[in-house]
Amino acid sequence: MLMNRAETMLVNSPPRRWLQRYEAHVLATLGGRTPGARVAEIGCGPGGGTRLVLDRFGAATVHAVDLDPAMLPRARRRLAPYGDRVRLTQGSATDLRTAFAPFDGGGDGTYDAVFDFAIVHHIPNWRDALAEVARVLKPGGRFYFDEVTATALARRSYRLLFDHPTEDRFTAGEFLAELPRHGLDVGDRWRTRIGGDYLLGVAQRR
Ligand SMILES: C[S@@+](CC[C@H](N)C(=O)[O-])C[C@H]1O[C@@H](n2cnc3c(N)ncnc32)[C@H](O)[C@@H]1O
Repeated sequence: MLMNRAETMLVNSPPRRWLQRYEAHVLATLGGRTPGARVAEIGCGPGGGTRLVLDRFGAATVHAVDLDPAMLPRARRRLAPYGDRVRLTQGSATDLRTAFAPFDGGGDGTYDAVFDFAIVHHIPNWRDALAEVARVLKPGGRFYFDEVTATALARRSYRLLFDHPTEDRFTAGEFLAELPRHGLDVGDRWRTRIGGDYLLGVAQRR
């Protein structure tokens, strides 16, 4: 589901970049860096997370996808210095085979890691996105997630300011319980923030 105007402004703003650096720090603490890795990023938005995956995590390459075509020119500008280490495309996290086909990506067991910076809560059929993440990961590959839960989405501020799917949202516990159904084991490598509003963690593909 596409973001509304208010959320688009927020995602494109310097405060989002600062917060994302903190999120990357937590994710790296939980799951370690990914030096030399082949990475996929779902819902890359304006590319701030992609840059962190390259610089902070040390990935060799990133295939990144976003549903919103308006995000891609921003991401392209931000990521131009990385040349062909980054491939960007418009498409859905629920069908990475189609999205990444132009760069020969999106096959079963293709990536060492997949990053999700606050996108799965935007997807109505979010379980399909988790199945897709699991499919494209190599055995032993890692899924880094930073999510907004049903608890946060139910708050007045979220309901007034932003548009999100209203049915079948996940709590932190429901998200964590869904992962192993797709072969993604999380163990104790997760944290919640602000009364369970935000969930950050790392799961490993069986
Ligand atoms: C809250 S923004 C996060 C953007 C960026 N990852 C960040 O953390 O700044 C959610 C992003 O997910 C994208 N999105 C929503 N549904 C999607 C889907 N099914 N597949 C890929 N991207 C999607 C939106 O267009 C938006 O750019």
